[in-house]
Amino acid sequence: MAPTLSNDILLKAAEAYATPLYVYDEERIRFQYAKLVQAFQQSDVRIFYACKALSNINILRIFQEMGAGIDCVSLNEVQFALRAGFEPGKIIFTPNSVSFEDYKEAVGLGVNINIDNLEILQQFGAAYGSAYPVVVRINPHILAGGNIKISTGHIDSKFGISIDQVTEIIAIKKQTGLTIKGLHLHTGSEIKEVEVFINGLNLLLELSEHFDELTVIDLGGGFKVPYKPDEKGANIEQLGEKLFERLYQFQQTNNRQFQIWFEPGKFLVSEAGYFLTKANIIKENPTRNFVGVDSGFNHLIRPMFYDAYHIIENISNENGRLKTYNVVGNICETDTFAWDRSLPEVHPGDVLMFKNAGAYGFEMSSRFNSRARPAEVLVSKGEIRLIRKRETLDDLIQGQIL
Ligand code: LLP
Repeated sequence: MAPTLSNDILLKAAEAYATPLYVYDEERIRFQYAKLVQAFQQSDVRIFYACKALSNINILRIFQEMGAGIDCVSLNEVQFALRAGFEPGKIIFTPNSVSFEDYKEAVGLGVNINIDNLEILQQFGAAYGSAYPVVVRINPHILAGGNIKISTGHIDSKFGISIDQVTEIIAIKKQTGLTIKGLHLHTGSEIKEVEVFINGLNLLLELSEHFDELTVIDLGGGFKVPYKPDEKGANIEQLGEKLFERLYQFQQTNNRQFQIWFEPGKFLVSEAGYFLTKANIIKENPTRNFVGVDSGFNHLIRPMFYDAYHIIENISNENGRLKTYNVVGNICETDTFAWDRSLPEVHPGDVLMFKNAGAYGFEMSSRFNSRARPAEVLVSKGEIRLIRKRETLDDLIQGQIL
């Protein structure tokens, strides 16, 4: 059984550190990672945690300790990873729309570099030739994922180099002597179908004939986790088996072997995170009951941004009589966490807990309406530890020139 945090411990955390509060479960993070390692053990697979999902350095240290690699999209994420103790060889830098200066800095840091456009590929080849092997991001023209805003591999997406432009990649390689050690794709987030990953693998295996030095195939992240009550996540065990079968078959016919990289974010941290808010007001209007909580889309933007569904529980009154509410935030514009949600009757002061808040929760939070960002705590072996202080008025004002 997957570990979860009890309501007792969540209420204790809310009491000790107040709300709104992000709470993470170390045991669940370890469990999710172990699940991936187990599912892929037959093949040569490396897991790189996509730290854009949750980048608190205390979380990164857990992954470092378990032996994971890390996927970073900005130089600051790379710096966090280095501070968390990751060796440069275990870091992938996968930016998009950044300047050549960023790539130069990444070379200086010695991390793996993933290039996602022809112009930079050309410049990089001209500057480094074969001296700094790189990974190239392909746009596979595959539409997949939970919501168009989180689909990245379709033909109209800004990401990667179109699979139709592979001849241009080959031309750059020939002209500059650039070594392409890896091919990468990431089709989107919340992908449930195992076939999407296998189709991606097949595309990159097909391309591999043009790249003699290729040792790595990176299939990105995006494993779906269940958000709604009866939803199912991606079947990782089945993916592990299919991956092994396909790689074995390819090796038999082509006599080539690749190391496979994955970069999951949500799968590793989403279910390990809980977001705690407190009910401030109850408003019974002619058409709707509202619960107004002490937070808003400034702290958890997923419902308003992606129409995302998060399970909400009233952990202060678990067995109360059910009533239907719109759960809303305190931002001065329409700010709805959930529509027509059935909850045990809510009273002012009750703690409402949002599930699946570990990935892209705190990480996408802002200071909109001049409200401070929440604190973060980590629960390890029953012990609650503060890993980020709640912001204060001073934090908000700092940097403004008065
Ligand atoms: N690799 C690359 C290149 C990515 O762009 C992403 C996510 C990942 C890996 C990790 O994907 P994951 O396993 O977490 O699905 N903020 C959105 C999700 C955006 C994902 C962006 N890229 C959300 O809250 O649903």
